[in-house]
Amino acid sequence: MTHEVAFPQDRTCPYHPPAGYEPLREERPLTRVTLFDGRPAWAVTGHDVARRLLADPRLSSDRTHKDFPSPTARGATVRGQRLPLVGVDDPEHNAQRRKLIPSFSSKRITALRPRIQQTVDQLLDSLAEQGPPADLVTTFAFPLPAIVICALLGAPYADAGFFEEQSRRLTLGQRPEEVEQGRAELNDYFHKLVESQWQDPGDGLIGDLVREQRATGSGDRQELVMLASVLLVGGFETTANMISLGTFTLLQHPQKLAELLADQTLMPSVVDELLRFTSIADIMLRMATTDIEIAGHTIRAGDGIVFPLSLINRDADVYEEPDRLDWHRTVRHHVAFGFGIHQCLGQNLARAELEIALWTLFQRLPKLALAAPPHEIPFKPGSTIQGLIELPVTW
Ligand code: HEM
Repeated sequence: MTHEVAFPQDRTCPYHPPAGYEPLREERPLTRVTLFDGRPAWAVTGHDVARRLLADPRLSSDRTHKDFPSPTARGATVRGQRLPLVGVDDPEHNAQRRKLIPSFSSKRITALRPRIQQTVDQLLDSLAEQGPPADLVTTFAFPLPAIVICALLGAPYADAGFFEEQSRRLTLGQRPEEVEQGRAELNDYFHKLVESQWQDPGDGLIGDLVREQRATGSGDRQELVMLASVLLVGGFETTANMISLGTFTLLQHPQKLAELLADQTLMPSVVDELLRFTSIADIMLRMATTDIEIAGHTIRAGDGIVFPLSLINRDADVYEEPDRLDWHRTVRHHVAFGFGIHQCLGQNLARAELEIALWTLFQRLPKLALAAPPHEIPFKPGSTIQGLIELPVTW
């Protein structure tokens, strides 16, 4: 057992797992790592064991528990916060999730597609007008999911810039006060939004939940405020980072890109393979509530468990040549959206955004290229959702 492997670590290439995780890969399916505060935790790296554990009700997502693992100092400061959905176990989790399912149905997502396409077209019009070079993160990858979340929640589109700014503070803020300020501003904003929709429920998700709460007399306005924040944080940065990192990965694999551009029907497989390959949500966490025997090990009650998705999605027992990008894999079921009861609620929306954004980008700007050497493009530290800080491009 390797106690000395630190978790999380920074990547050396933005789309490959950190080089320092190599010993973890060799010790599949689970081994020990050391968190920033010196606390040991289990790291699950085998695909089969990961799925069994993520579906196991003996694992908890409750971040208010004193033993819940924190992979970063910042994570430790938010411990104690009761996050709806993602931080709640069944049966409460199930009751919360059920109310949201209609807002994420395939019918709803299909209905959002024209709006996504229109937004992508408008953003690319502005980019073309402005001319090269440009930073694709600020001009394209960030604004798109911010506008889509407005559409989903039923917030005015004019507020997308505000969402973008506050989410950036919340997820990238360097100082605790900056993070706290972002949280407070969003909280305030969502209070006002819920209040106005309470008087006059609109078409989006908040309006749906207001109608449901009124009809059943269940829940309260504070719950809606918290839910809206969780949806924004869960759906904004992840999708934004996938757009920029997906673009970068395609530009670094010109033959794979050419194959895609010759056949649009590959797009859904391309999106899934990019999700597997880049595994941007690399620090999923749980805590064992009772002793669990698995794969010849005993996980004790109170033990922290980390799921480095980049390793699980490159388990060589499941994926042939896992470090190769391949649009024709027969094995899918990657865990880039998690697995079990908390599996990403927004995955169909994320897939729709990624398909439309990446396809349209390369159609409109077929000569798109990096405007800086790849090794000079800054990317995010391992303690966050993985992605690029800037993506300088030309065309
Ligand atoms: C490429 C984009 C995305 C990625 C990689 C991603 C990844 C994930 C992962 C790994 C989880 C599981 C977390 C856990 O089990 O602890 C999750 C949960 C979740 N995601 Fe996403 N996500 C993406 C986009 C979205 C979008 C667009 C939305 C909605 C607007 C969204 C909403 C959620 C919610 C609400 C949960 C919690 C579900 C629950 O606890 O039942 N995500 N996501």
